[in-house]
Amino acid sequence: MIKSWDYLNEYLLIKDKIQKSIDGVLKGGNLFFGKELDKFEKNFLKINNAKYGVAVGSGTDAIYLSLKALNIGYGDEVITVANTAIPTVSAIISTGATVKFIDIGNDFLININKLEKAISKKTKVLIPVHLYGQSCNMKKIIKIAKKYKLKIIEDCAQAQGAKFMNKNIGTFGITGCFSFYPTKILGAYGDGGFVTTNSKKIFQKIKRLRFYGMEQSDSSKWWNKRYYAVENGTNSRMSEIQASILNIKIKYLNQNIKRRREIAKMYNDGIKNPCIIKPIENKNNLHVYHLYVVASKNRKTILKKMKKEKIILGIQYPYPIHKMKAYKNSKFKNLTNTEKQAKKIFSLPTYPLIENYKIKKIIKILNSI
Ligand SMILES: Cc1ncc(COP(=O)(O)O)c(C=O)c1O
Repeated sequence: MIKSWDYLNEYLLIKDKIQKSIDGVLKGGNLFFGKELDKFEKNFLKINNAKYGVAVGSGTDAIYLSLKALNIGYGDEVITVANTAIPTVSAIISTGATVKFIDIGNDFLININKLEKAISKKTKVLIPVHLYGQSCNMKKIIKIAKKYKLKIIEDCAQAQGAKFMNKNIGTFGITGCFSFYPTKILGAYGDGGFVTTNSKKIFQKIKRLRFYGMEQSDSSKWWNKRYYAVENGTNSRMSEIQASILNIKIKYLNQNIKRRREIAKMYNDGIKNPCIIKPIENKNNLHVYHLYVVASKNRKTILKKMKKEKIILGIQYPYPIHKMKAYKNSKFKNLTNTEKQAKKIFSLPTYPLIENYKIKKIIKILNSI
């Protein structure tokens, strides 16, 4: 059986380190806001070349808290894409704001040519999604945002380590929002998220919002003003255990990105079936291949055949957001490429510890269909 994602090989490789660190946290007597979190926040900021950063409970929270920190709510409009994961949109809706969707290009990223026309008086924020591990064209997005005085929140959930024009994603917008859900490029063994920012004000605000609105000048002294909220916040903490796991796994990030790119190259070179369209890798950007997403009119036949061979492939994502019951909106009639791609795309495994013989088997069967 070949799964679309599996963490067991990785866990077995680093098991001793993980168990030792969890044991250390549990014996240390501090389960939240301790030295593992401090260390991880510093580590993650360093690899992303960002000034400030706050670890939070999930990628969804990272987006939600970024919007809250910008005071986005009822009456405001946020622009993003409909081929993203549900949480990009659920985070927007949870603030009370409305969402406006823009169609995508053939690289599965926001179609910047359609962006300017969609901006209205209500538009306050743009959320470009660096989907599947590839950066959006931030140069063009920044130009438009500046012209209309809009803030940019980057959805970096699928693209830790990705770069645009040699600059880390998450450093272009007012915030960069990351997820450490286990399947991600840097995944915990549970939930986790992160907000990067170059604004001290936003940093301080999100730091309060993640912990019931209490002032947290220094996370090791969070008890200074214990049980005193200066504003309404929420609970979005990262535990010491998850931070300690991430402190170990972050050391493998570059090596894992290299491996993901190597796997993508194997697919690029190996897939010869003319019915399968391979992904576009844009210039001036480091694609980190969270997913290797191909498209085919014959998706149903291909997935059926693969399943017969005990290869389970994923579809990220089969339903555009505006077509789902929760977010249904007939207003969005121009998302033609989004809707077309949703019917054709499927993902090939890129997790770093998949064995080469499995990739070769996937390629061989894909070519035989
Ligand atoms: C594009 C995108 N945005 C946001 C999120 C939300 O992250 P999380 O699952 O950590 O809340 C995810 C992950 O599922 C994602 O893929």
